[in-house]
Amino acid sequence: MEISFRLNGEDVTATTDDPTATLLDWLREDRGLTGTKEGCNEGDCGACSVIVTGADGSPRALNACILFLSQLAGRAVRTVEGLTAADGTLHPVQTAMIDHHGSQCGFCTPGFVTTMAAAHANGATDHLDQIAGNLCRCTGYAPILRAAKACEAAPVPDLMREAPVAGPSVRQSAQFHPCNADELADWYLDHPDATLVAGATDVGLWVTKQFRPLGTMAFLVGCDDLRGVTVTDTALDIGAMTDMETLRHAIAPHFAGFAELLRRYGSVQVRNAATIGGNIANGSPIGDSPPPLIALGATLHLRRGDARRSMPLENFFLDYGKQDRAPGEFVERISIPRQPDTLRCHKLSKRFDQDISAVCGAFNVIVEDGTVVSARVAFGGMAGTPKRARATEAALTGRAFDNATLEAAAKSLSKDFSPLSDMRASADYRMRAARGMLLRLASDTPSILEVQP
Ligand SMILES: Cc1cc2nc3c(=O)[nH]c(=O)nc-3n(C[C@H](O)[C@H](O)[C@H](O)COP(=O)(O)OP(=O)(O)OC[C@H]3O[C@@H](n4cnc5c(N)ncnc54)[C@H](O)[C@@H]3O)c2cc1C
Ligand code: FES
Ligand code: FES
Repeated sequence: MEISFRLNGEDVTATTDDPTATLLDWLREDRGLTGTKEGCNEGDCGACSVIVTGADGSPRALNACILFLSQLAGRAVRTVEGLTAADGTLHPVQTAMIDHHGSQCGFCTPGFVTTMAAAHANGATDHLDQIAGNLCRCTGYAPILRAAKACEAAPVPDLMREAPVAGPSVRQSAQFHPCNADELADWYLDHPDATLVAGATDVGLWVTKQFRPLGTMAFLVGCDDLRGVTVTDTALDIGAMTDMETLRHAIAPHFAGFAELLRRYGSVQVRNAATIGGNIANGSPIGDSPPPLIALGATLHLRRGDARRSMPLENFFLDYGKQDRAPGEFVERISIPRQPDTLRCHKLSKRFDQDISAVCGAFNVIVEDGTVVSARVAFGGMAGTPKRARATEAALTGRAFDNATLEAAAKSLSKDFSPLSDMRASADYRMRAARGMLLRLASDTPSILEVQP
């Protein structure tokens, strides 16, 4: 297989027999670009961060350890080696890191510099969020944050503006690289056992951690028609390939609590890759998007060949590891009905940033004249699937919105859920945490920051 893309300003072609070869391994082993480091090899530490620019021209930080070469066709990659201008002028982030003593052992530094350079190019000044996916074990974060702040106003170097990559991008591939949803639909009918690869933030780990052979694969990165959020008078329509960072920004004006929850979804590098379709299709009981989507009454749209069907999202999750998806059928989009923003979300995890939920609760409770007229409540981490709390909803609806009702409803949670104990939390802790989230509905402040330690 030959994949063409741009690397540090130069058009390159990578040749490999392995469709799951990662960008990180190729950079280090084939190109000798060892500035990009391997730490965790699972998207957690940011040591392997590189800058990837797609057709939209916006540079984004991505983790090279779980980014397959097959996902790079037609995109531009910039590593830490490519941040210095031809005349030796350092990137403003590099200069600021030196001036502010942002590096000691230096192992994490290339990853910080690339992540910060992408943030700088996009004018992002939420530095804590921007570097939440980069771990440093010796310098400490204060000098790094000072460096990020210091170069905010510096001009973006020209090298950060990548021209579109021309020409055919993937040749002689045994795998499938659809250009749109129609091509994917036709092909998937004939290859129902194939593995679909969207952002690869799950699939990447099957390769790097489980060494699992993936058989026939389809890389959905070229399906631009499955990307994006369309807002109509009645709904927010979200394409399955929409990444979590795009969704976070698009949804913020409509459902602020949902956007705030997504701020704590992985890190900026993970959100730039992970898609809403993957987060639903993987059926994880602790995926962060299903609880708010279920609480908002979202509809899932599936496609198999030319046949399409839709269902309330909660009906998709049948049991642990089992979803209502037929062979050859894929998630095409998800739609959320327009409505006033009454949604509150709480994500409880051991760390504030870059951690998987122990419990994730979403509450869409509408109160009129002091009475609950409608309640949709959903949880992740409380059952083998993301699940609606119907007994709890019934205990809320039609009652006065007060502490007595919330306390009575909190007791109903044990009718809805029998959570499990695992390494993230015990069953008892999960139940207490879920009850606590429900009781917090009486608080005036919807921000999940309140649960920050
Ligand atoms: C470091 C790290 C942090 C993370 N943090 C979080 C977190 O905070 N919250 C959270 O919820 N998750 C988290 N995750 C998990 C992961 O990001 C999500 O599950 C993600 O949404 C998967 O989407 P993807 O596009 O990367 O899917 P992929 O890995 O490409 O695919 C996942 C599964 O979905 C299938 N699939 C993908 N798209 C479709 C489609 N359109 N139709 C049918 N099937 C499809 C694939 O075949 C595969 O089975 C984290 C992962 C990592 C590595
Ligand atoms: S090596 Fe840790 S995120 Fe890639
Ligand atoms: S400088 Fe050593 S890990 Fe960050």
